[in-house]
Amino acid sequence: MNIALIGFMGVGKTTVSRALGRRAGMPEVEVDQWIVEKAGCSIPEIFERDGEAAFRDLETAAIQELCSGDFLINGKAGNGIILSCGGGAVLRPENVKTLKKDGVVVLLTARPETVLRRVGDGKSRPVLGGEVTILHITELMEKRRAVYEAAADITVVTDGRKPEEIAGDILKKIEQYRKE
Ligand code: S3P
Repeated sequence: MNIALIGFMGVGKTTVSRALGRRAGMPEVEVDQWIVEKAGCSIPEIFERDGEAAFRDLETAAIQELCSGDFLINGKAGNGIILSCGGGAVLRPENVKTLKKDGVVVLLTARPETVLRRVGDGKSRPVLGGEVTILHITELMEKRRAVYEAAADITVVTDGRKPEEIAGDILKKIEQYRKE
């Protein structure tokens, strides 16, 4: 069974994914990184050159490929991996369906203040459009909140917590979720 980490930019998906991978002994893959390696250019470059819709198509294809289970990561079977998804990955219902097929979807959340601190100058996040303010982050977060919540099987708050602690919490909640 896969574990998909979803949530807004800067909630800590990448760092939590690493901690979770170590703790659960599962290979982890960052969907954005996968796209960048295949495309041979950065996410801002893809957005600028081909537009957001083209990026979303690459994202859907990447999620499909990663969830298909017929590839290898670090020499381990790609069956049962941790997918750290980009913040917009669950905006397409078909991606949610793919992630849920053989996986549990874990929503990570953080306050806008935490996100603001974590996204820095925002240059690597084209959807922010250079408007790296609490107001803009809060608005975008609110716009996406219902979609994130509907996609999530489990929700974990990340503010002020260490990745290892969050990883432990996720595993505990997954265990409970599987028993239900
Ligand atoms: C996006 C989030 C980014 C990346 C792309 C679009 C979004 O990933 O996929 O810039 O729409 O929220 P992170 O959440 O890892 O920053």
